[in-house]
Parts: sequence; C-alpha cells; structure tokens
Amino acid sequence: MNRKLIAGNWKMNGLSADLQTIREIAAGLAVSAAAPEALLCVPATLLAEAARQASGTALRMGGQTCHAQEKGAFTGDISALMLREAGAGFVIAGHSERRSGHGETDAIVAAQARAAVNAGLTPIICVGETLDERLSGATLRVIEGQLAGSLDGLQPGSFVLAYEPLWAIGTGNVATPAQIAEVHAFIRQFLEQRFGQSGQSVRILYGGSLNPANAAEIFPIPNVDGGLIGGASLKAGDFLAIYNTAGALTV
Ligand code: PGA
Repeated sequence: MNRKLIAGNWKMNGLSADLQTIREIAAGLAVSAAAPEALLCVPATLLAEAARQASGTALRMGGQTCHAQEKGAFTGDISALMLREAGAGFVIAGHSERRSGHGETDAIVAAQARAAVNAGLTPIICVGETLDERLSGATLRVIEGQLAGSLDGLQPGSFVLAYEPLWAIGTGNVATPAQIAEVHAFIRQFLEQRFGQSGQSVRILYGGSLNPANAAEIFPIPNVDGGLIGGASLKAGDFLAIYNTAGALTV
C-alpha cells in the first residue's frame, strides 16, 4: 500500500495572517512513519515564510504551478528552482484552473512536470473530465488522453497524479465512490501498462469537494492514495480532520 498524501491547494488564498493556520496544521499532525504525508500548496508569496514556520514539523510545502524553463524572460512566471529554493518539495502541475484559465496543454503540463523533477520537486499532475465529457460517456477516453500527453519523459517514483473531475471542484458535488473507483482503477491500469510493476507505486490522489464529512467514504476506495483538497484545506480543523481520517484508515 502506498503511503497516503493529504495535500491542500490554497489556490489564490493566503496572506501573512493565514500563517497561523499553517502553524495550527503543522502542530496537529501525527509524527509516525506510517502516518499520511501532509502537504500545503500555498501561494508563492507565502512559501518561504510558511516553510520556515513549518520546519522541524511533518508538514511539507508546495507551489501551485511552475514554468517549464529554468529562468529567462517570462514576466510574472515562477520557476521550479525558485519554488524549491523557497522551501517547496512539491508543485501542482496542470490543475484544471491552469489548463482552462491559462491555456496549459498536456505538452505544457508534461514540460512543467519535467522541470519540477529536474529542480528536485515532486509534481502533482492533475487530470479530470468536464461535466459534458462525463455525461457523454467520454470520461475514460479524456483521462487516457491527458495521461498519455502529460507524462512524457517522467519516471514512476518522481511524480504524483491527481484525479479531479472538473464538475466536482469547488461545487460541493463530490464524485460517487463508484465513479472514483472506476477512474482510479483505470489510471492504475494505464500506469501499469506504461511502467510495469512500478506503476503500482505511483500515488493517485482524488480531488473535488473532499471534506471531513466525505473523507471516510473516499480514502478506503482501492487506488485512492490520498487527496487534493481545495476549500477544506483553508481551515486547520477541516484539513486535520481529513488528515486524521486518512491516518485512522492507514493503521
Ligand atoms: P475543492 O478544490 O476541494 O475546493 O473542490 C480541489 C482542487 O481544486 O484541487
């Protein structure tokens, strides 16, 4: 069984006053080696101070996107190495809000993920279908296309995947256990076909309206190796409740 990863995605939320939440989360984590890994992907402006305050605790820090190039004339962008230097161990790549709002294609996502790995970060690569795609029965085809295009040049062990149906993100409409089980099994099969047995060790997170009330139903689903949590990661109590639910299932 893969060690679970409970990852918060703060999106464009978080000022220095919110460092208090980070301290509360860090203080509330379990310390055993069997406990889930806990991660917060915070805005880049908070990263260095958040990492400083979380140092010596089990809480890891991550960025939310990075540019595919190491450096250069890319106004407003941030490189993987910059995130790494600021204290990140992870970075989200290809979140649907980046794919749709910033035109990030599978090829761009793959290039960002490779840049992350080269900088010593673990990319969390997101895939997921729209509501129209689900309703028209295209879900698995869409996921397969995103996986085929977003993993170019990556080796198992260097990245994490997140399945986030777009219609479940920020809507309160969490996917059903059967829907999650089907897509996660499909992703696992894809990984095993591509990487052989090492495909089993790639962690696959579920994301989309995960909260303390539904976590106990989601984490035991086969091939669910943790969660990517937006809204509920902004409150220490909610994030820790989700983390503890995952931890209780691990032991
Ligand atoms: P949500 O966001 O938990 O608020 O639905 C998840 C995500 O976008 O990663």
